[in-house]
Amino acid sequence: MNTETIVIRSDADFPHLERAGEILRTSGLVAFPTETVYGLGGNALDKTASKKIYAAKGRPSDNPLIVHIATPEEAEKYCITNKLYYELASSFMPGPLTIILPKKYIDGIPVIPDETTGGLDSVAIRCPADPIAHKLIVYADVPIAAPSANTSGSPSPTSATHVIHDLNNKIDMIIDGGESVFGLESTVIRIDGDTIYLLRPGAVTAEQLSIFANKLVIADEHLKEGEQPLSPGMKYKHYAPSKPLYLVSGDEELVLDFFKEKQKEENCAIICYDEDAKFLNPDNLFLLGKQRDLLSHAHRLFDFLRKTDVTDTSVIYARLPSKEGIGLALYNRLIRAAGHNIINLK
Ligand code: TXA
Ligand code: MG
Repeated sequence: MNTETIVIRSDADFPHLERAGEILRTSGLVAFPTETVYGLGGNALDKTASKKIYAAKGRPSDNPLIVHIATPEEAEKYCITNKLYYELASSFMPGPLTIILPKKYIDGIPVIPDETTGGLDSVAIRCPADPIAHKLIVYADVPIAAPSANTSGSPSPTSATHVIHDLNNKIDMIIDGGESVFGLESTVIRIDGDTIYLLRPGAVTAEQLSIFANKLVIADEHLKEGEQPLSPGMKYKHYAPSKPLYLVSGDEELVLDFFKEKQKEENCAIICYDEDAKFLNPDNLFLLGKQRDLLSHAHRLFDFLRKTDVTDTSVIYARLPSKEGIGLALYNRLIRAAGHNIINLK
């Protein structure tokens, strides 16, 4: 299949999205930018499109897809909403928050087919803030099912280059809208009464959500043997680089000494902060931004995971993020990529 790539850089380019909308209405697949990561979109109401998404990504068919809508109220057509949904929507939608709600059935038939939701009787709803994503949903005039637009097992794509690398010639169209602003996938939650279960941390933080919930339950990073995950995606192996990745924590001085030593001893890549640069050899150094600038870290992380993996180094070291605010999302992605390998310096 020949994949068409279109570039959108301003509102003036929006009319090009009309063709993308048409592709979506006729069971085709379109990768598109969002403020979190790029999505691989298909018509959420169309089982053929959903099956094509799983095939193109090489994704297990029981891992449900997020349904993207243009306004929070559109959820009424596909799910059973509640008061807490609208309270959260008024603060965080459009934006990087995905909310799982019970599926809506008409005459016993689910409006969103089982093929889109991996056979579950719930639907994950997201209303993206990115203007291109929003316009695409409006032009398509159907809800868009979209997982991240990467091959299963590689880091989520934060630029059209990443999508082209993974999916060129496997889908109908790629919309190049520049780099994703945030760079990590959306926060995923499930609402149960006035309890919020945080299934995947993202830009909308646990601290922000806790204001709305009577109780906030944060899903554990470590699943015990035989335990059922709250979200099917949590049971799958996540991106792991082809070489060992270690997360390093400890006092500033100890961490820097460790990095310096490792640079002398072995051919390694290091993912660290701007402030570290003056103490280290610049070869294979990947700077996330200033230590306190967590948004910059989020923006660069997935690109660095892709880049470090293709360097000629034999091992990767990265700073272990704190779990505060957006740090929890960074921690969650890195700890999985590192297979929970942490070096605690004392
Ligand atoms: O930022 C994002 O969320 C991006 C952009 C494209 O919107 N999408 C994304 O989708 O990251 P994906 O498929 O890579 O991750 C969706 C996660 C998976 O872990 C999946 O298991 C979970 O959400 N999920 C989706 N529907 C669910 C449901 N009904 N119940 C429980 N978990 C669900
Ligand atoms: Mg994904």
